[in-house]
Order: sequence, then structure tokens, then C-alpha cells
Amino acid sequence: MSETFYDRVGGAPTFHKLVAEFYRGVADDPPLKEMYPEEDLGPAEDRLRMFLEQYWGGPKTYGETRGHPRLRIRHAPFKVTPLQRDRWLQHMLAAADTLGLEEADDAELREYLVRAAQFMINADDD
Ligand code: HEM
Repeated sequence: MSETFYDRVGGAPTFHKLVAEFYRGVADDPPLKEMYPEEDLGPAEDRLRMFLEQYWGGPKTYGETRGHPRLRIRHAPFKVTPLQRDRWLQHMLAAADTLGLEEADDAELREYLVRAAQFMINADDD
């Protein structure tokens, strides 16, 4: 059996750290934080972590609890503009910096995040 990306980068603790660092950044960035419907970012953090773990070959808890990701549809209620994408990515790439991954894994993760964030844009900046 070939090793998944999830296993290779350290499994659950790595994904916990990635999203914890990311949401620390979101919490300190009012224009981004205001988009989140819940005051407590903890549940959003859990959903993003479960999604990323599943995407990279880890546990399928996201699908079991949330169903098919349909991420663009799930983001439709929120105005994801290029500027908000930049904020999201800034925190996410800073979070990735803290992981100390092997170069190839680091590059693969970043390329995915940049592409996924671009794909989520659904509105123009005013
Ligand atoms: C580009 C900028 C983005 C913005 C501003 C943004 C914003 C949001 C907001 C406001 C929510 C609702 C919070 C909640 O779950 O309660 C959300 C949910 C979520 N976002 Fe994003 N997002 C962005 C990109 C992404 C990307 C690139 C991914 C995946 C790689 C992602 C994955 C998720 C997931 C998994 C959820 C929870 C969906 C569910 O309800 O199951 N988001 N996002």
C-alpha cells in the first residue's frame, strides 16, 4: 500500500496544527473574521480540519458527518472576493510555514491551497 500524503506529513497532529494556526490568524483579522457566522471559530476549525484530512487521504470523518463537500455551494452564502481570498491565503500559507514539511510536500500543499482558494471566489471586491 502506498503511503498517503496525510501519513507522510505526520497525520492528525500536522492537520490540527495547520488549522489551529490558520484560525489564530483569522481571529486577528477583523474583515475576514466577520464573514464567519459563529462567534466561536472552533466548529469552523473542526470542519476545515476534517475536510483537509479527508482530502489528503486521512480519516473520512468529514464525509461521514457533513456529506459531500460541495465547497463552492457551501461558500455561496459568503462573499468570497479576491481580497478575502488573499486574506485567507495569507493566514493559511503562514500556517503552512509553521509545519516544517519536506520541500516537495510543502510545495504540493501550497499549490493545492492557492488553487482551492482561487476556485472559491464567487464575488468581486466592491
Ligand atoms: C478563499 C477564501 C475563503 C473564505 C473567505 C472562506 C470562508 C468560509 C466561511 C465564512 C465558512 C463558514 C464557516 C463555517 O464552517 O461555519 C467556510 C466554511 C468552510 N470552508 Fe471556506 N473559505 C475560503 C476558502 C476555502 C478553501 C480554499 C477551502 C478548502 C481548501 C475551504 C474549506 C471550507 C470548509 C471545509 C468549510 C466548512 C464547510 C461545511 O459546512 O462543511 N474554504 N469558509
